[in-house]
Amino acid sequence: MSMTSAERQPIVSPAPAVDMRSPFVRLTELLGDSKPGKPAINLSVGEPQHPMPPFVGPVLAENLADFGRYPPNKGSDQFRRAAAGWLGRRYKLKRPVDADSEVLVLNGTREGLFLAAIAAKRWVAKRAGPPAILIPNPFYAAYAAGAAAAECETVYLPARVTNGFLPDLDALPDELLARTVAFYLASPANPQGAVADHAYLVRLAGLARRFGFLVFNDECYCEIYSKEPPPGMLEAAGPDFAHAVVFHSLSKRSSLPGLRVGFAAGDRRFLGQYLELRNVAAPQVPLPAQAVAVAAYNDEKHVEENRRLYNAKFDLADQIVGGRYGYKRPAGGFFLWLDVAAMGGSEAASKRLWREAGVRVVPGRYLARPQADGSNPGTDYIRVAMVQDKEATAEALHRLVAVLG
Ligand SMILES: Cc1ncc(COP(=O)(O)O)c(C=O)c1O
Repeated sequence: MSMTSAERQPIVSPAPAVDMRSPFVRLTELLGDSKPGKPAINLSVGEPQHPMPPFVGPVLAENLADFGRYPPNKGSDQFRRAAAGWLGRRYKLKRPVDADSEVLVLNGTREGLFLAAIAAKRWVAKRAGPPAILIPNPFYAAYAAGAAAAECETVYLPARVTNGFLPDLDALPDELLARTVAFYLASPANPQGAVADHAYLVRLAGLARRFGFLVFNDECYCEIYSKEPPPGMLEAAGPDFAHAVVFHSLSKRSSLPGLRVGFAAGDRRFLGQYLELRNVAAPQVPLPAQAVAVAAYNDEKHVEENRRLYNAKFDLADQIVGGRYGYKRPAGGFFLWLDVAAMGGSEAASKRLWREAGVRVVPGRYLARPQADGSNPGTDYIRVAMVQDKEATAEALHRLVAVLG
């Protein structure tokens, strides 16, 4: 959606003293010792509760002996081949991904996203000004933690309803892009569920090449969608994937958040530098877990079933929440991002939902930071994770509507 410059929000936030703690720690503090008004239903953490795929136990058992070996940092050959093969099947790539030089295993994407900022700062050519890392606002906490660890200025790009919940690429001055080290994007986005279309991704990849920064697209929700599979950044990057890196995870795709397996793929020159850092700093991924991941990336049946379960719950949200709180079924991901400004805003609504309904949700304010003008793009919202089973989700949504009206 294009906007006039007058409508655009100021994008550069001069990092006011902000609370960098985890949103969940802040939520626990907010709720204090107040008791849930009804039997508790936790819709705060995005931890999938769907059944694990059936092959996890048998594959682990077959590979048990490999707990006796240190895993190679870059991942086993089989894992990297499985991830590269899956990328080729999942996306419309112009050429296959090279498993040897263009894929690295991660111990889940969180650590990968965090360490990528530090590697990026080392990798980019000298910046024309103080190095900056651009992140959407609201955002997943590891991006900001990485930017701080890399000693870069964190620039929060507001992702509000007025710009389709994605950072406005037209609002980025050349001066800022020329000193950008990395640009984090999440598509599908957590919390809003927005999906960047192919044209947006092409444009962003072009800016990254022109100004010499890296795009880190967090694609961990890519398999949870309503209609169309979300496009990926590698489809939009040039044939050499220059300046583009994608982050994938089995936590959401395969409901395996405890397995701790994901991967980064893309620009081979960056991945080489990233591996240097990872060799000395990153958590390795146990080989039996990588064997499970090989099976997971070679199976789509459990992913289709997982998506069906989420879609059934979004059907419930369509019925129960309907047109309230600015709700629109998100294009991807598994969150509701509900506008509760009329109910006192994110913290007041979260407290009431807990005290009166036993429903635990995250105040949107804790998922975002104030912009330069002091406004916080999350203040009016709560995030509701659709991770419980259908019955618990329906119960929670009925209670939510009963309390918030
Ligand atoms: C946007 C986003 N990125 C990354 C992650 C990290 O997931 P994991 O480390 O389990 O791969 C999460 C988890 O909630 C997330 O919501």
